[in-house]
Amino acid sequence: MKRTAYLTPIVALALLLLPVQAVESQEEHAFVGVQGCKKCHLKEWKSWQETKMAEAFESLKPGVDVEAKEKLGFDPQKDYSADAECVGCHVTGWEQPGGFTSTEETPDLAGVGCEDCHGAGGTYIQDGYMTLKNKEYKRSELVAVGLVEKVGVEQCMRCHDPEKVPFDYTFDYESQKDQGMHEKFPLKYNHD
Ligand code: HEC
Ligand code: HEC
Ligand code: HEC
Ligand code: HEC
Repeated sequence: MKRTAYLTPIVALALLLLPVQAVESQEEHAFVGVQGCKKCHLKEWKSWQETKMAEAFESLKPGVDVEAKEKLGFDPQKDYSADAECVGCHVTGWEQPGGFTSTEETPDLAGVGCEDCHGAGGTYIQDGYMTLKNKEYKRSELVAVGLVEKVGVEQCMRCHDPEKVPFDYTFDYESQKDQGMHEKFPLKYNHD
């Protein structure tokens, strides 16, 4: 009996902390779009631009990627770019607050952008966080406001999950993680 009494406060604390963390990391931060990252990360941007993910929204338009569509069983002349069955994985921040809604409202969020992997930047690029005046920001402080601490398979699986992709598909993170992504450049400053 003594044991239950001892555990209860810990459980209560865990319950208290969990929802707060979920809200902070996923819900409260606006998406800024690739242009908002490009000005300080030109090298990553250039390299990202050459990846297929940068062009992911274009692929949904009629007459684009005709061969791939025929192979996958899609109609190459159909416009899939407003099709809710498709856009979610071909844009930035789908169904997340401030994420892509339509090309008219959120043109800067078409395609798989930086924030699909690194987290919505609306807060972590504000003063006091990741700025040119604060190059030695503390990573943990940015992570608390939406930066993904270490991009990994979890980020990819939102879209590369064979259970959700609407065609025959397999995804092997270990072998694919270095192919379709931007080149990596060592960080200059200390963020620990
Ligand atoms: C005003 C400039 C500026 C803007 C805008 C900016 N960053 Fe940064 N970012 C930096 C600086 C400075 C660093 C630290 C660089 C270093 O240590 O070499 C950094 C580091 C990073 C890192 C490494 C994180 C770590 O510590 O592990 C990532 C990832 C990153 N930025 C992504 C983004 C994304 C995504 C956006 C857009 C939402 C963005 N940045 C916008 C200046 C900026
Ligand atoms: C669950 C996420 C998801 C959904 C939903 C989704 N896609 Fe995709 N799509 C992907 C991924 C991941 C790839 C990359 C596959 C690969 O690695 O070859 C892809 C690739 C494609 C390609 C191939 C481009 C090329 O050059 O090879 C086309 C075309 C495409 N999708 C169209 C569609 C259409 C049309 C729909 C709606 C009917 C759709 N997608 C829905 C995730 C998705
Ligand atoms: C498909 C996922 C993905 C996308 C999209 C993406 N990144 Fe990254 N990025 C990574 C991974 C993985 C790393 C390695 C560091 C890590 O594990 O978090 C990384 C590292 C970085 C770093 C740290 C320095 C470096 O070069 O390693 C910066 C800065 C960065 N990305 C900026 C960007 C910017 C800016 C964009 C958009 C133009 C972008 N990233 C798009 C996955 C992505
Ligand atoms: C928001 C959804 C989304 C996220 C998150 C995402 N991807 Fe993608 N990725 C796509 C789509 C859609 C395509 C296909 C783009 C096209 O060709 O139109 C793609 C294409 C690719 C390709 C190129 C496939 C080819 O046929 O050459 C690779 C490799 C890839 N992604 C790896 C990753 C990895 C690794 C991660 C996680 C670090 C990741 N992606 C995160 C949606 C996503």
